[in-house]
Amino acid sequence: MNLHELKKHYGPVALVTGASSGIGEQFAEVLAEVGFDLVLVARRRDLLNTLSARLTEKFSTITTVVEADLTDAASIDQIMEHCEGLDIGLLVSNAGFGLKGLHQHNAPSQLLDMLMVNCQAPMQLTHRFIPGLRQRQRAGVILTSSVEALMGYPYSAAYAASKAFVSNLAEGLWGELSTEGVDVCAICPGSTDTPAHDLQGIDRSKIDEYMAPREVAELALTHIEDGPVYIVGEKNEHRARALAKMPRRESLPLVREAMQQVLLK
Ligand SMILES: NC(=O)c1ccc[n+]([C@@H]2O[C@H](COP(=O)([O-])OP(=O)(O)OC[C@H]3O[C@@H](n4cnc5c(N)ncnc54)[C@H](OP(=O)(O)O)[C@@H]3O)[C@@H](O)[C@H]2O)c1
Repeated sequence: MNLHELKKHYGPVALVTGASSGIGEQFAEVLAEVGFDLVLVARRRDLLNTLSARLTEKFSTITTVVEADLTDAASIDQIMEHCEGLDIGLLVSNAGFGLKGLHQHNAPSQLLDMLMVNCQAPMQLTHRFIPGLRQRQRAGVILTSSVEALMGYPYSAAYAASKAFVSNLAEGLWGELSTEGVDVCAICPGSTDTPAHDLQGIDRSKIDEYMAPREVAELALTHIEDGPVYIVGEKNEHRARALAKMPRRESLPLVREAMQQVLLK
């Protein structure tokens, strides 16, 4: 779908989680540019306020800023309260984070937080929004997954498993909703140039190629009808599909070596 058709199809309001940074910030920017009003969700209110002011100045966007910590189950109610009375036709559940390194070295509390943000939040947000989206009969759901969802990932075992949950959730929902006028798409970006990599201890100098978060957001939005799962970017698609087709006993050692190369010791 052409970016300029999005608002007619899914407007007037979109909700973006993880809008304070990276891919989510770019989802917000692109959607504002094509005329959406926005609900912006993340923990860092200062960044959301700065983004909100910028979008209002540039595009006259009406924004609702929701400071919410998605590791807290109660944050879903909090988000829903802020959305009362808004005609939201596009849900972008994008917030997420990864934990790299040996599984045994990641703190149990962080692993649980990761499941809350990466899995519980999209599961509950879709659960709460779907009745309204079905009623509109022209609506969309984007769930940010990852190329790591397509197979197990040594040194990223729990993160990859959490993203497999996201892609699987999208497939099921696509099956339920594709005849109801609700487009559902899990997007699978590969390496994208956001602060996430530094937070996970990845050596940027060892990554061959990054996609820009703006490009990821634009491609995701223009491919929203290509669900249930869309791998973002031709190179990522080629690489991910080739790996996924190999027997796991061959592909897993390749991924193990690649991960050992890029993780800071
Ligand atoms: N970068 C990549 O290479 C890559 C590749 C594949 C998939 N992804 C996925 O893309 C999505 C966006 O990541 P990104 O690369 O853009 O990273 P990022 O720049 O670090 O952004 C992550 C976003 O998630 C939000 N978030 C994290 N924990 C949260 C919490 N507890 N409560 C509420 N919001 C929370 C952050 O906001 P606050 O910190 O302000 O709360 C931030 O807005 C994630 O789902 C990630 O797994 C990224």
